[in-house]
Amino acid sequence: MASPVHSPEPALLAALARRPGHHVPVWFMRQAGRSLPEYRAVRGVESILTVLEDPELAATITLQPVERYHVDAAILYSDIMAPLAAAGVGVDIVPGLGPTFDPPIRARSDLARLDRFHPEALEAMASTVRLVTAASPVPLIGFAGGPFTVASYLIEGRPSRDYSATKRLMLADAGLFAALLERLTDIAAASIAVQVEAGASAVQIFDSWAGALSGPAFRDHVARHLRRLAAVIGELGVPSIYFSVGTAHLEADICELGFDAVGIDWRVDLEGFATRHGSRLALQGNLDPAYVLAPVDVVLAEARAVLTASAPAPGYVFNLGHGVLPESDPDVLARVVDLVHDEGTRLRTN
Ligand code: CP3
Repeated sequence: MASPVHSPEPALLAALARRPGHHVPVWFMRQAGRSLPEYRAVRGVESILTVLEDPELAATITLQPVERYHVDAAILYSDIMAPLAAAGVGVDIVPGLGPTFDPPIRARSDLARLDRFHPEALEAMASTVRLVTAASPVPLIGFAGGPFTVASYLIEGRPSRDYSATKRLMLADAGLFAALLERLTDIAAASIAVQVEAGASAVQIFDSWAGALSGPAFRDHVARHLRRLAAVIGELGVPSIYFSVGTAHLEADICELGFDAVGIDWRVDLEGFATRHGSRLALQGNLDPAYVLAPVDVVLAEARAVLTASAPAPGYVFNLGHGVLPESDPDVLARVVDLVHDEGTRLRTN
C-alpha cells in the first residue's frame, strides 16, 4: 500500500473535495500584506499595482506567509481590480483608501472603456503564478473579484458605504447593469483561466460587498453571473470557493450557485451552516479577524471553538471570517496554524 507520506493529496484539495485529509488545512485571507514585517521590508511605497508589474517581487510576497506560517495554501498576491488596472482602463488603488475609477461608469457609452481589457495584459500575473507554483510546497489559490463587488468600485468610483450609485444604476437601467456585470464576469473568467493555466490549483471568488444587496436584488441582478463564473471554474477542472460578507440573508441563494465551497464571514453561525449545507458543500471560515488581536490564549480558545463548530461539515478549511487586520501579530497567527494542524482533526471528531 502506498504510504500517504510519499504521495499525500494536499490537505486543501482534499477538504475542498470533501475527502478525509491528512490534517485540517488552514490559510488566511490577506495573509500576505501589511501585518508581515518581511512584506513591509520589500514592499516600498508604490501602489500595489506597481508591485504587481514585478513578478519576482509579487511571487516573493505570495510565498512569505507560506514560509512563515506553514499554511496549507498560497494565495496569489494581486488584487480584485488588478485585471482592469492592467488593461489601463482608469483603475487605481490608493494606499489607505482602496480602488478608485475615474470617471466612474454612469452611461452605456462608458462600457466601451472595458473593451481595452485583453488577457495578454495579464502576462505579469501569469509569470507570478508560474514562479510561485514552481517554488511552493502547497497549492496556489488563484482568485477574482465577484462581478458585483468589482462593479461597485467602477460605478461608485471609490470605496462606498451605502452603494447608492450602484443600486441607483441597477434599478434605473437594469440592461446597462446586466451588460456591465456580463463584461466583468468575462474579465474575471479570463483572469481565472490565465491563473489556472499557469498553475493555480483552486480559485476563490471574493464578493466582499454582495451583502449590500437584498435577496430579490441578488437573485434578479447578480446570481446568474456568479453561476456562470462557477461553471467556468468547474470547466477549468479546479475547485471553487465563493466568499462574501454579511450575506446570512442570502444563504440559500449562495449555496445554489454551483461553487464547491462557501467561505463564510465571522457573523455566521458555522455549526448551523455546516449542519445545513456540509453534506453538499465544503466550508471555509470563520474566526473573527479582530479576535486575533486578543491575548494569545483567548485567540486559541476561539480557534478551538471554530474547529469544533465545523464538525458537521466533512469538507472544511480553517480561515478567518474576513482578511487579516494589518495590526495582527504574526506570532499569534503562527500559533493558530499550529493549533489547527495539531488539534484540528481531534476537535472535529470529538
Ligand atoms: O489575500 C491575500 O493575501 C492576497 C492578496 C489580496 C489583496 N487584495 C492584496 C491587497 C486579495 C485577495 C485582495 C482582494 C481584495 N481587494 C478584496 C476582497 C477581499 C476583502 O478584503 O474583502 C477587496 C474588496 C479589494 C479591494 C482593495 N484593494 C481594498 C479595499 C484595498 C485596501 C486599501 C488600503 O490600503 O487600505 C486594496 C489594496 C490591497 N490589496 C492591499 C493588499 C495587500 C493593501 C495595500 C497595499 O499593501 O498596497
